Amino acid sequence: MSTAQPVVPVVGGMPDVLDRCRELVRPALVEAVRRLHPWVGEMAAYAFGWCEAGGAPAAAPGGKGVRQALAVLGAEAAGAPGRAGVAAAVAVELVHTFSLLHDDIMDGDATRRGRPAVWKEYGTGPAVLAGDALFALAVETLARTPGGPAVVRRLSATLVDLLRGQADDLLFATRPWRGPERVRPPEYRVMAEHKTGALLGCAAALGAALGGATPATADALDRFGRHLGVAFQLVDDVLGLWGDPAVTGKPVHADLRERKKTFPVLAALDAPHPAASRLAALLESDGDPAEAAALAEAAGGRAAALAEARRHVAAAGAALSGVPLDAGACAGLRALPAFLLARDL
Ligand code: IPE
Ligand code: MG
Ligand code: MG
Repeated sequence: MSTAQPVVPVVGGMPDVLDRCRELVRPALVEAVRRLHPWVGEMAAYAFGWCEAGGAPAAAPGGKGVRQALAVLGAEAAGAPGRAGVAAAVAVELVHTFSLLHDDIMDGDATRRGRPAVWKEYGTGPAVLAGDALFALAVETLARTPGGPAVVRRLSATLVDLLRGQADDLLFATRPWRGPERVRPPEYRVMAEHKTGALLGCAAALGAALGGATPATADALDRFGRHLGVAFQLVDDVLGLWGDPAVTGKPVHADLRERKKTFPVLAALDAPHPAASRLAALLESDGDPAEAAALAEAAGGRAAALAEARRHVAAAGAALSGVPLDAGACAGLRALPAFLLARDL
């Protein structure tokens, strides 16, 4: 694996914010999952990284909890205590886990966070059911919250965006690598904003809305999260091509095998570089993925993706300017991209 600089420098102390938010949200999340059928609840707990299959305490860590932190910081940014954002945090973590459960089935990926994906461990039918249950629980959680119809409306619109993004992601895989029907980078950007950015934006905006923010402030936080999400997806694409599975917990080159139209490959194919046409020919013949990754790097695809990620991080920061936000929470939000993107590149 080749190495590169982090997308943006890490700001110290960020994991403390994530830990604080996780502690704050965890009791309500556990309580929500407890409302599920016990068998479905075990699959959910496995997906969250709380337990192993069968219910024994988990040996592996769960997710970082970025979405729940965005919701808590969103409430604080609006001047409310972090606990005002807890219902939003629970809802977005439930939606995130639902989307990963179903995504691994759609993508045919057998590994998630270094363990068998839920569908591999429990079977496809049960995993579909567990995802459905988490989806329903997320909506129910917000519907129970005294935030009014606006918060349920925002979550529902996010779900529509997320599913639209997943649809494009799957359909793009059926399109050719070159020629007039090829997928162009602007189409990728819309797809990534839908499948990944919408939920990050929703997390921050919902937290803010429950914290009493004006619609303008909630919308600014939504834009922040959407740009952050696109940056995150770009880095995810880079890790899928050049990451170390021991670090990412996911298989390498799965996107290439599935003919996913990831940004680094699209950028490499468009590059005025001799490696670009060799890459296209190799991809069209389903050639060696390691060779394809090397050609994509030679044509500048990796550098282009990381540059694009940095542009979205800058745009995320810019979205926070112009609306009044609590200074401490705003500093936490501004530190988040560095932590989120400083994965082992
Ligand atoms: C996942 O996108 C997006 C959603 C789950 C909505 P990817 O398929 O690119 O993400 P990973 O690599 O499996 O995590
Ligand atoms: Mg996937
Ligand atoms: Mg996917």
